[in-house]
Amino acid sequence: MDKLMPSAGDHQLQNYEQMRDSFTWSDVEPVFSWYKSGKVNAAYECIDRHAADGKGDQTALLYSDKNRNESHTFEELRKSTNQAAHMFKKIGIQKGDRVFVFMPRSPELYIALLGIIKAGAVAGPLFEAFMKEAVRARLEDSEAVSIVTTPELLERIPYDELPDLKKIVLVGESEYPDKRFYSFYDEMKASPTDGNAIEWMDREDGMILHYTSGSTGKPKGVYHVHNAMIQHYQTAKWVLDLKEDDIYWCTADPGWVTGTSYGIFGPWLNGVTNVVRGGRFSPEDWYGTIEQHGVTVWYSAPTAFRMLMSAPKHALENADISSLRHVLSVGEPLNPEVVRWGMEAYGHRIHDTWWMTETGAMLICNYPSEPIKPGSMGKPIPGIKAAILDNQGNEMPPHEMGHLAIKSGWPSQMRSIWKNEAKFKDYFYFKGWYVSGDTAYRDEEGYFWFQGRNDDVINTAGERVGPFEIESKLVEHPAVAEAGVIGKPDELRGEIIKAFISLNDGYTFTDELKTEIQTFIKSELSAHAVPREIEFKKQLPKTRSGKIMRRVLKAWELDEPAGDLSTMDD
Ligand code: WTA
Repeated sequence: MDKLMPSAGDHQLQNYEQMRDSFTWSDVEPVFSWYKSGKVNAAYECIDRHAADGKGDQTALLYSDKNRNESHTFEELRKSTNQAAHMFKKIGIQKGDRVFVFMPRSPELYIALLGIIKAGAVAGPLFEAFMKEAVRARLEDSEAVSIVTTPELLERIPYDELPDLKKIVLVGESEYPDKRFYSFYDEMKASPTDGNAIEWMDREDGMILHYTSGSTGKPKGVYHVHNAMIQHYQTAKWVLDLKEDDIYWCTADPGWVTGTSYGIFGPWLNGVTNVVRGGRFSPEDWYGTIEQHGVTVWYSAPTAFRMLMSAPKHALENADISSLRHVLSVGEPLNPEVVRWGMEAYGHRIHDTWWMTETGAMLICNYPSEPIKPGSMGKPIPGIKAAILDNQGNEMPPHEMGHLAIKSGWPSQMRSIWKNEAKFKDYFYFKGWYVSGDTAYRDEEGYFWFQGRNDDVINTAGERVGPFEIESKLVEHPAVAEAGVIGKPDELRGEIIKAFISLNDGYTFTDELKTEIQTFIKSELSAHAVPREIEFKKQLPKTRSGKIMRRVLKAWELDEPAGDLSTMDD
C-alpha cells in the first residue's frame, strides 16, 4: 500500500529529520523541578506542578464505568494524592519500599499509585485478573511490604505466607482480620491534604516495578526510576501529540506498562485531561466513551481495533466520534488491513508505536507530521538510535532481517531486573546495545518493520505471556506429566496460547479433562494465561538434557520444517 500522508495542522513534532539530528535529552530537563533543586518526584511533576502553575481547576481525570462518572481537577488530585502519601508514610512505608496496587481501574487506583510514588516508595501495579499463584510470585520476588487492594481480591493474596507483606490497605467495606489491615477511606480521611507529603528523590531513585514475562524462568521485575519521566513527557508530546486542551484516552490498564507510562505519566506530565474507563471491552461502551468525553487523542491496541473492526456496524454508526483527531496503537503488530479500515471507519490514520516494558517509553513510532507506511512501526524518535544487528552484533544494511537493538542509554530505560543481574545482563549481550528480542528490518528510508520474536515469548491480545510460567503450572495438575506451550497465530488475538501435554499413567485425554486443566490455569494464574487449545501427545520433543523443544512443537503446529534436530533426544 502507498504511504499515507500526514493530516494538516500544527503538530508537536514538526520537523522530524531536523529534530533527529539536533535533539538531546538534556533539552527537556528544564521543564522539571530538579533543574532548580536537584531533587524530583514524578508524581509532583504529574499533578502538583500544574496546580502550582494556575491550572488547578482544570480537569485532570475523567473516570467512568457502569456505576460511576467522576471528574477530578489537578488541585483535587494534588490533595488526594497528598493524603495517600501521608497515609503510606503513617503506616510505615519508607523510601524504596515496594508497594503494590491490585484492583480494578478506579480513581482510587490512580490516587493510590501516585500516592505511593509521592511517598518515595516503588509502585508495583498488578493486573486485576491475576490469580493467587501469579500474585504470590510477584509479591514474593519483589519482597513487597504493602498492597492496596479491594476486599473482593483479598482471597487471591496469600498474605499469611508472605512474611514481608506487613500492611494491607483495603479499598471498600470489609472486616479487618488483624492489625496488618487498614481502611483506605478511613486512613485517607484522617490524612492532611497538605504538609510534607512529598519525598524528594534523586532522579535515579526507583519509581515503578512492572513484572513481565520472558521465555524462561519466572516473571521478571522490570525496575524503572523517576528519570523516565523525561521520555514519558517528551514522547507524549511528540508522538501522542498532546496539547493543553486535548482530552486523551489510553485504553490500557496500569497493570501493563502502557497503562502507566501513557495512562498516567505521559498525559499528566503534559497537564492534559486524562480519561479512564473502568469495566470490560465493548464496542458500544468504547465508542460511547469517546462521545461522552469528547476524546481527541486515543491510544489503544491492535486486538482492540480488530475487535472493533468485526463489531456490528451500528456500534460505530450510533456514536459520534467526530472529536477524535489522533489515533495510535501499541503492543503487537498492527496489520496494514487494520490501518486501511481505520482510514475508512474513522477517517484517521492509526499510528503504530513500538516499545517494551523494559524500554519504559516509546522508541520507534509513526508521527502525525510524517508519512505512514502501513505495516511499519515507523522511525526512531529523536534521541534514539535503533539498528538491526546480525548474530555477531554488527549493524546490517537495509532490508536484511536481524535483531532489533537500541543504543543503550535513553532516559526511560530500565535500570535493573529486580534481584536478577544475570537476566538484566542478557539484554546487553552485544556491548553498548539493548537487544529487544524482536526481529525486524529497516528500509532505505529508515522505517522499521517488525517480523517477530526470536524467543518463545507469546503475545496474545497484546499481552505478553511467558510459556514457562504456564508450563510450570500445567505440570502441577495431577494428570499432566509434561507440557510445552507455544503461541499459535490467530486472526483476532495475534496469537493464542496452545499447550501440548503428555499424561501421567492412569489418565486419558477427554474434553472434560481439557476443561478441567483450563479451569485450573485460570484459577491459579489468570484468564489470559489459559491455553485455548490443548493437544495430547504421547511424548513431547525434548533435547538430550530433557528440555522441551518448543521450536519443534511450533513447527509441527504450523506444518513447517522443524530445522536442526541434532540436539533432540531419540
Ligand atoms: C511487541 C508493550 C509489533 C514486541 C508496550 C515487543 C510490538 C513486546 C509492537 C513488548 C508493535 C510492542 N509492533 N510488536 N508496534 N509494540 N510489540 O513489554 O514483541 O508488553 O517486544 O510492552 O510487544 O511487550 P510489552
